[in-house]
Amino acid sequence: MPTTRPKRLSPRTADPRRLYEAAVQCPEAEIDFVDSTFRKITGRRAALLREDFCGTAATACEWVRRRPTNHAIGVDLDPSALAWSKANHVAGLTDDQRRRLRLKKGDVRTPTKAEQGVDIVLAMNFSYWCFTTRESLVAYFRTVRKSLAKGGVFFLDFFGGWEAQKILTERKRCKGFTYIWEHAHYNPITADMTCHIHFEFPGGGAIRKAFTYHWRLWTLPEVRELLVEAGFRDVTVYWEGDDGKGGGDGVFRPNTKGEVCASWIAYLSAR
Ligand SMILES: C[S@@+](CC[C@H](N)C(=O)[O-])C[C@H]1O[C@@H](n2cnc3c(N)ncnc32)[C@H](O)[C@@H]1O
Repeated sequence: MPTTRPKRLSPRTADPRRLYEAAVQCPEAEIDFVDSTFRKITGRRAALLREDFCGTAATACEWVRRRPTNHAIGVDLDPSALAWSKANHVAGLTDDQRRRLRLKKGDVRTPTKAEQGVDIVLAMNFSYWCFTTRESLVAYFRTVRKSLAKGGVFFLDFFGGWEAQKILTERKRCKGFTYIWEHAHYNPITADMTCHIHFEFPGGGAIRKAFTYHWRLWTLPEVRELLVEAGFRDVTVYWEGDDGKGGGDGVFRPNTKGEVCASWIAYLSAR
């Protein structure tokens, strides 16, 4: 039987959004965490989820695949990311799953009535760090709170540790390419930071600055305080367990002490 060799990835053939998803996202694990945590803290199952800053909406798609009673809304400013999602994710959903998903080109700060009354709002991959002042971040948190149905929960993620402030480059080998995360700029006075994602290929060549983020490196106490200022009464931090080899084990549990380490990732819930 004739066989075709899988095409080698190169700067010319690779799709940066596909590489991004393969390197940094795991929507199944994210939805496992969000779904079970929502149930633990509210005693019921969530049905309507809004993914803010959804990009390619991989997580919203996973939500509608999870249960036939699940509905999702993905919101992003970038029409090209939403178009990519439609061609690459939504096209692979069943008709029923597709009917339960809506992608909206819009600003997460100005949700319409149709994007409110949701059980869960997600703001993942640190995307809310694009709001770089206390005023703008608390204003966003207030609109999220107003968007939640009674008993609804807001989930966010967070990274920290002393390496977060360092100018550094981290490399991770992925299938067919290397993912590179760069802290290119950090201003200790304003906490403004610029990060880039680059991709390199085994046959040579690279996609430099495939994605760039201009963020404020918030601290966890600041974000917790701003959530409370926005009206959330119950804010919980979920800290990742240890894999025994100096890394995280992917299991996040409520925690009030944390652990002093070079870099860490946490989830927060607010309600
Ligand atoms: C880091 S990507 C996150 C993609 C995806 N949520 C993830 O978890 O990987 C940030 C996304 O936020 C979007 N974005 C930035 N500011 C926004 C705003 N004010 N309203 C809606 N989307 C915004 C960008 O277009 C981009 O797709």
